[in-house]
Amino acid sequence: MSATHPYAIHALELGPMENFVYLIEDLASGRAAVVDPAWDVPQVLALAERHAVHITDILLTHSHHDHINGIEDVLRHHDAQLHLLKDEARFWGSCLDLPTLHHGGDRISLGDTEIEVLHTPGHTPGSACYRVADQLMSGDTLFVFGCGRCDLRGGDPEQMFHTLNDMQHKLPADTIILPGHNYAEKTTSTLGEQIEGNPFMHFDDLGRFVRYRMHYHDRHRQEPYGPVHKGQEMPV
Ligand SMILES: [Fe+2]
Repeated sequence: MSATHPYAIHALELGPMENFVYLIEDLASGRAAVVDPAWDVPQVLALAERHAVHITDILLTHSHHDHINGIEDVLRHHDAQLHLLKDEARFWGSCLDLPTLHHGGDRISLGDTEIEVLHTPGHTPGSACYRVADQLMSGDTLFVFGCGRCDLRGGDPEQMFHTLNDMQHKLPADTIILPGHNYAEKTTSTLGEQIEGNPFMHFDDLGRFVRYRMHYHDRHRQEPYGPVHKGQEMPV
């Protein structure tokens, strides 16, 4: 974090699926937002306590179980507002009390900290990334040297292709990627490094991307993911 920023982002790696849970702390107000609370909520609460912040907001990148199974637990301790995209709420079908439903491009104010909501469908219909200045919490859309599966219910590899293309062209290369899982040889990266070394960022052709995502990748690549040179994604 730069001293000029009004916020700090803290990361916890929790649970059997190596989820990253992020706490965005607004320094002036003592408010915090937790992104994808799951697995070990006492650790999340302890982190908030260490920084003397109140969790006032919960941001969901998507509604898969491994990203949401701590919501109720957080709400037992903090009176927090839940945020997710409208498309994801429709897909999820859950009736948690009165979440704030967003569209891509919305901004959430956390004290002096502004959080931009990006709609990034592909892993699920209403997947979101949350951008705070130059940092992007990318959920299961973009991993370090990987991307989210598209073969689960609600997944769509064609949408993922367009989402990753948009990210490449619309976000600055020095954007810091904070992914939803620790699947790679490093925990964070920049978008520029991903454009270079993330195989899912190398496709110009939709059909080839879909074949790679749906049929080729999981059989031929092992975690922890490292960089792949452009042209080395698939033999054909
Ligand atoms: Fe997921």
